[in-house]
Amino acid sequence: MKRASWVALVVVAQGFGSIVVAEEWDPDTNAPNLASGGIENTRHNMTMSYLSGAHRATMRIWRNDYGEVCVYCHTPHGANTTSGAGMPLWNRTVNPSLTYQLYTDVIATTLQMAGDQTASAPGPASLTCLSCHDGVTAIDSIINMPGSGNYRASQDEIEDPGFLAGWSADTFENLDLASCASECHNPGGSPFDFYPFVIGAGTDADGNYVAPVGTTIDLRNDHPVGVLYPTATAGSPGVDFFPMDVLIPDRYAFFDDGNGRADKYELRAYDSGQGYEIECASCHDPHGVPDAANIEFIPSFLRVDNTGSALCLTCHDK
Ligand code: HEC
Ligand code: HEC
Ligand code: HEC
Ligand code: HEC
Repeated sequence: MKRASWVALVVVAQGFGSIVVAEEWDPDTNAPNLASGGIENTRHNMTMSYLSGAHRATMRIWRNDYGEVCVYCHTPHGANTTSGAGMPLWNRTVNPSLTYQLYTDVIATTLQMAGDQTASAPGPASLTCLSCHDGVTAIDSIINMPGSGNYRASQDEIEDPGFLAGWSADTFENLDLASCASECHNPGGSPFDFYPFVIGAGTDADGNYVAPVGTTIDLRNDHPVGVLYPTATAGSPGVDFFPMDVLIPDRYAFFDDGNGRADKYELRAYDSGQGYEIECASCHDPHGVPDAANIEFIPSFLRVDNTGSALCLTCHDK
């Protein structure tokens, strides 16, 4: 419904008959989403605003435009080693005072593993995503802004609006969830309902995001993360789950197509010291995964297209 009306809006704005426009602005993503372009064609290109015409510049006043795609997440030097252990050259603030309520807190006794398992905590391959999708950390809160002299070590754990405001040229608004969600990234907000953003937020009766209270992020209504995947060394593989093919201790286990490599289209479980666990990046690749025809990305950064529940059925033997 919302997606359809968005496409209509774009077409009207550009003039009727512009079927090309509808293709350009993918209805599933509001982004071009063409696999040929790489991550810059996805919604993880924070330098872009996927609105048409003059609105394209809208995001400019709402976050620092660093003019680079990777820098919102990675840095070649000065990466986060304090809270960012196990994260790939991570350039983002990872707030250690946040705690996460996980799905298993509610329903631990029904889980299928041998013995009850209690999810530990989101591992590094979830905390990366949560450093934006938690609803409290600004998307431009990074340690090493482009150019020299724009580095602040303490940004690894503490977001410093003063430091971020030092970025030139932009009218800076340090956005928290309430601001991000007030107009645009909000299921109830129209017409800019770029809704799929905050995982750790609740919604009110109108469907508007409600910011997390205090430092507790509620993931109890999300697919569990920080849970063990049954392997030969934990749980009972093959009973309710398909066993993963390759197990590399201290790294990951994955379903393999035979080349012995964890390809981006292969689901995986991460071992950050507690065994192979499901994390956000088990199902999603934040850089986008081309579809079988290599034309568009699979929607929602999924590693496996979920048509016919194919993603779910890669792991769950149901
Ligand atoms: C929105 C955040 C984000 C952006 C933007 C981003 N990355 Fe990543 N990148 C990640 C995350 C998260 C991981 C870890 C994925 C995992 O756990 O498997 C990662 C992993 C990687 C890795 C190591 C693992 C692999 O998949 O090869 C490389 C290399 C990498 N990114 C390069 C890049 C480059 C180059 C760019 C810019 C063109 C970029 N990334 C942009 C989030 C991002
Ligand atoms: C990468 C592997 C993987 C994928 C993909 C996956 N799951 Fe899971 N899922 C798990 C694991 C591991 C658990 C925790 C199971 C446990 O401890 O019993 C789990 C738990 C669940 C539970 C809770 C079970 C309970 O006992 O409360 C449900 C329901 C579920 N998954 C549904 C889905 C659906 C629907 C999809 C597709 C959208 C999906 N899963 C995709 C691995 C996966
Ligand atoms: C630098 C901040 C940042 C990081 C880190 C990040 N995201 Fe995002 N993500 C965003 C923004 C901004 C959007 C666009 C939201 C919108 O348009 O409403 C987005 C959109 C998405 C979407 C919806 C895409 C669509 O086309 O519908 C998914 C799924 C997603 N992110 C998953 C992840 C996962 C999983 C990770 C970690 C592997 C991650 N993100 C890391 C900022 C981030
Ligand atoms: C077991 C697989 C799995 C795991 C683990 C998982 N996701 Fe997802 N996620 C999905 C699927 C499938 C969708 C697409 C849902 C849809 O199309 O309605 C999705 C959608 C999303 C979206 C878009 C929201 C929307 O309403 O469409 C975001 C953002 C996202 N995930 C972020 C995350 C983050 C952050 C984590 C870790 C805390 C995570 N995901 C863990 C499977 C997973």
